[in-house]
Amino acid sequence: MFGKRTNDPSSVASPAPKPVGAPKAGAGSSTPTATQSALRPTTTPKATSAPPKPAPEPEKQRSHSEEYYDVKTTVFNALIDTIDLTQLSKLDAVAAREEIRDIVSEIIQLKNVVMSIAEQEELLEDICNDVLGYGPLEPLLARDDIADIMVNGAATTFIEVNGKVQKTGVRFADNTQLMNICQRIVSQVGRRVDESSPICDARLPDGSRVNVIAPPLAIDGPALTIRKFKKDKLKLEQLVKFGSITPEAKTILEIIGRVRCNILISGGTGSGKTTLLNCLTGSIDLDERIITCEDSAELQLQQPHVVRLETRPPNLEGEGEITMRALVKNCLRMRPERIIVGEVRGPEAFDLLQAMNTGHDGSMGTLHSNSPREAISRLESMIMMGGFALPVTTIREMIVGSVDIIVQASRLRDGSRKITHITEVMGMEGEVVTLQNLIVYEITGEDANGKLIGRHRSTGISRPAFWERASYYGETDRLAEALAASEVYDEHGNPVGDANG
Ligand SMILES: Nc1ncnc2c1ncn2[C@@H]1O[C@H](COP(=O)(O)OP(=O)(O)OP(=O)(O)O)[C@@H](O)[C@H]1O
Ligand SMILES: [Mg+2]
Repeated sequence: MFGKRTNDPSSVASPAPKPVGAPKAGAGSSTPTATQSALRPTTTPKATSAPPKPAPEPEKQRSHSEEYYDVKTTVFNALIDTIDLTQLSKLDAVAAREEIRDIVSEIIQLKNVVMSIAEQEELLEDICNDVLGYGPLEPLLARDDIADIMVNGAATTFIEVNGKVQKTGVRFADNTQLMNICQRIVSQVGRRVDESSPICDARLPDGSRVNVIAPPLAIDGPALTIRKFKKDKLKLEQLVKFGSITPEAKTILEIIGRVRCNILISGGTGSGKTTLLNCLTGSIDLDERIITCEDSAELQLQQPHVVRLETRPPNLEGEGEITMRALVKNCLRMRPERIIVGEVRGPEAFDLLQAMNTGHDGSMGTLHSNSPREAISRLESMIMMGGFALPVTTIREMIVGSVDIIVQASRLRDGSRKITHITEVMGMEGEVVTLQNLIVYEITGEDANGKLIGRHRSTGISRPAFWERASYYGETDRLAEALAASEVYDEHGNPVGDANG
């Protein structure tokens, strides 16, 4: 995005100079004043006594001494006095950054600030980030190993790395600076966040999903949550490498995706639903027309014939909202072969199910729930709450007639993400929907480091209900092979047949 992430020249230039002018009031007023009161280092002072490497590395979690912030304030104030923001705003991001760096270097010399080269470099970066970018967030945004950034007010920022949530040394000068940065983020997509409209969803230019909730709703200062966009989305091979699924289960998923089963991906928050959905779309044949409906476009389909749709929240007057339901309904008039719904969370469930059983086989969606069984009841309640006056049995029959497979994703307590079920929706027994697991994950223990030990096992089904479909697509051999190669365990937990871990 902005200069810090310079390895990719195209990304540097992307956000036009527009934000340059914006920080005038925000960064200029908040950063300096804050130092006198709100700044308290969260960890031991470090910057002045033990300088880091010459170039500030994004991977480092930096925390600074009070002295560093004092110097930054002084330099920042001088910069704001010196610089002509109108002129600056005419430059592109790279040139603007160069300009600021030159002026800040001069100020440091003029003011006789004693700093090592490394500290100076870091200060230059910090100030450029404050003026041009997203301030203290920049080093975190530059890292590709972070899944989520969670800012709980100016002083506290957590990140999720490798499935584990950890606290960082990153902090903002004060809540005003944080709020200004939130504002800068949401204004890029034409939205506003303030006391009168304190909840806002947005997207960073790189595609990361952003949510802001501001005071007075957020009691301890603005809460900013960013689901980092992964440039290289995880592929099924990587999920195998991570142990999220077995190679055999990967093959089964590929077949399920290809042979146009209707699939629901169920899982908790951050369990990997969207990632899995994206993986599954990878098996769709290149000649199919696919329409995706999302709240915030996250999917990256590789096929040539894709139309991507995104919902729209209401404007400040509460008008102009386009709901997921409206999108799904509209989809049906667009001659889709497959409909992919990023997240089903309301009455659009009804329309998706209808689409699924009216010739749009191979449609897919994700929903929040903790097991395949719960996914069925979540669907039921979404339809009932949508005001459809249908008897529950009818809704269940509709679900059974539409959904072929439920894939369950879970984030386990050791931070690992697993695909815990590949389950078929079979039919009804009386009033109850019958499900059949093909592959399940079971936890068998925990090692000394708290890492969970478990295994994926097949339930021994050799002819799943979608066999006919697989046959139509010539996939039965591959399917039979994958099912036969999946581990089956007896009731004592011993592998039946060839053991393979
Ligand atoms: N199997 C996996 N192994 C490791 N990391 C994963 C796995 N699946 C997903 N992730 C990572 O976890 C993070 C969350 O994934 P994703 O966005 O797919 O979750 P989600 O369930 O859709 O979340 P939400 O409920 O917020 O929409 C991403 O950074 C993603 O790269
Ligand atoms: Mg998601």
